Amino acid sequence: MRTSPFLLMLALAGCFEDTSSIKSAFLPPDYQTQFLLARACQADTGNAHGQGYQIIRANNLGMQGPPYAPGSVFVSELHGDPGCTSLQSIYAIAKEEPGYDPGNGDWHWQRLSSIQRVLDDGKLATCATCHAACAPSDRVCSRR
Ligand code: HEC
Repeated sequence: MRTSPFLLMLALAGCFEDTSSIKSAFLPPDYQTQFLLARACQADTGNAHGQGYQIIRANNLGMQGPPYAPGSVFVSELHGDPGCTSLQSIYAIAKEEPGYDPGNGDWHWQRLSSIQRVLDDGKLATCATCHAACAPSDRVCSRR
């Protein structure tokens, strides 16, 4: 049987499709409406994630620590303006099951673009090293 050009096009389009790997495995795309406000917009005085303004959100489990149960998720949005209306990048963490990364609190780290493309993902040493200073609050720095 001859392959129709239409089917061939579909197959090719599939190859260039937006793959799920560049989307976060744990951050819901609509987290901004789903998550709760953990800390209102304020200047990132310590330049933790870069120069700008930070707003911090968490899912329900995240509001219940420390310590945090697996499934807890936090997001730190970096904005360019004091009203936190110009999103520049997203930093997210998810508590994985015990054993994921026991030396670093079993947190899964991600840096995402403003349109939620995952740029860095996994057991990220740069993130974990700085957040180690917040070990007494299970490595969540804004909720000491
Ligand atoms: C230089 C230190 C530093 C580095 C590096 C860093 N962070 Fe943070 N992060 C902080 C501090 C401090 C806060 C608390 C907010 C504040 O006080 O500005 C924070 C807050 C957060 C929060 C909100 C939850 C919390 O801990 O309060 C997330 C999520 C987060 N960071 C993710 C990341 C990810 C992902 C990376 C790596 C890509 C990263 N951070 C790298 C210092 C750092």
